[in-house]
Amino acid sequence: MQSTLPGDDPLHVAIIMDGNGRWATRRGLPRVAGHRAGVGAVRRVVQAAPDLGIGTLTLFAFSSDNWRRPADEVGALMLLLQKGLRAELRGFIEGGARLTVIGRRDRLPESLRRALDHAEQATAHGNRLHLRIALDYSSRDAIARAAASWKAGTQPSPDLFGHHLAKLLGGGVETTNVDLLVRTGGEMRLSDFLLWECAYAELWFTDKMWPEFGAKDLSAAIGEFRRRERRFGGIGANPPPPCRQGSGVGVAEPPAARPPSRAQVPLPLVGSG
Ligand code: FPP
Repeated sequence: MQSTLPGDDPLHVAIIMDGNGRWATRRGLPRVAGHRAGVGAVRRVVQAAPDLGIGTLTLFAFSSDNWRRPADEVGALMLLLQKGLRAELRGFIEGGARLTVIGRRDRLPESLRRALDHAEQATAHGNRLHLRIALDYSSRDAIARAAASWKAGTQPSPDLFGHHLAKLLGGGVETTNVDLLVRTGGEMRLSDFLLWECAYAELWFTDKMWPEFGAKDLSAAIGEFRRRERRFGGIGANPPPPCRQGSGVGVAEPPAARPPSRAQVPLPLVGSG
């Protein structure tokens, strides 16, 4: 992952793309028109991300709670995700994005699963941006499944558990903890998104609806992020808590040598480290 900002580690930015429905309704359009317009915003942020120093971008496209929506909206969203992925694929490849999916796949339509597999394979060599799409994703579900399969008597270390959790999420590509969580649409909540990975995330909210969101907004969020002082429980500007390289979420240990930089505190998705 290459940051274009010399001296900076590539960031992991996660986005809760909210406000599609309201954007459409306010224009007298069906809600699905908002989701369709939302694909344009996905394109804009994916294009802009590497030049803003983002190495990993995780987008919340469909939560496990979204199954509660009317069947016609769910069906339209599934079809849109399938078509949207196919339509954007060339741009993702040309932009050097590597796409992986987190969340449950077993409840997704077969045709969407095929489109996801294809997109993952076709972008496997992308090295400018790790683009993660969260689909049928619930953080609590992921954590509960990780806990259920956690071997009894294993050392209760957040470091090891984070690694175990990450393995279950799928994707096969190493990633880092979330640095910045963005939510559009004026709501200020986490909605069961990346609860573990956001342990040290900075939060940034905007009233803009997702279909209106673009490179300038992402740049503003990153600008504010870079002005914030991250203390990680210490006093004054601090690096993340030290942890063994290649393991999960950082665990505070007594300081010894200089702790690793943010980029060296990976949260591997699958079997790495
Ligand atoms: C939330 O807005 C948005 C969604 C549930 C869907 C987001 C999906 C996309 C933008 C398509 C992504 C496409 C690709 C190719 C990755 P909402 O409907 O909850 O808005 P509301 O709060 O105004 O009702």
